[in-house]
Amino acid sequence: MSTTKEDLGAAFAGESQANRKYLFFAEKADGEGHKRVARLFRAVAEAETVHARNHLKVMQGVGSTKDNLREAIGGEHHEFTEMYPAFIKQAEVESNSKAKGSFDFANKIERLHHGLYIDALDMLEKGQATELKPFYVCQYCGNTVEGQAPEKCPVCGMPKSMFKLIE
Ligand SMILES: [Fe+2]
Ligand SMILES: [Fe+2]
Repeated sequence: MSTTKEDLGAAFAGESQANRKYLFFAEKADGEGHKRVARLFRAVAEAETVHARNHLKVMQGVGSTKDNLREAIGGEHHEFTEMYPAFIKQAEVESNSKAKGSFDFANKIERLHHGLYIDALDMLEKGQATELKPFYVCQYCGNTVEGQAPEKCPVCGMPKSMFKLIE
């Protein structure tokens, strides 16, 4: 039997995953012209977000922004120092090049996210005023860039048009 604390963690993970999955299912349904099903997926995805938020709230999983940055730094660090390196090795053992490629992109970008979060925390702690610039995210590899999108993604080589503006 699991504890309620563990159950909350599992429920949060499951709802978060369902949210993402349904949004991807909605894209597919849109692409196939199933507008009503796409909308249904998006509606249920939204409800799963409500559940995820409720669970996380009960878990007291959202702290101050400084605390949240520290938590995010730890998570990204774990991913690029332990999780993805092990996953990449295993994918190599299994000669699964698609999985290796997917892990490789994520691994590179988590390292970058880690740095972005460290800088953000540093600036908050120093009380430094920062200029508000847009972010751009490469829709192929996840590269996350502040300011303006590069002509060509330095991580995956995709053109500027692959970058999505985040305001
Ligand atoms: Fe990341
Ligand atoms: Fe990229």
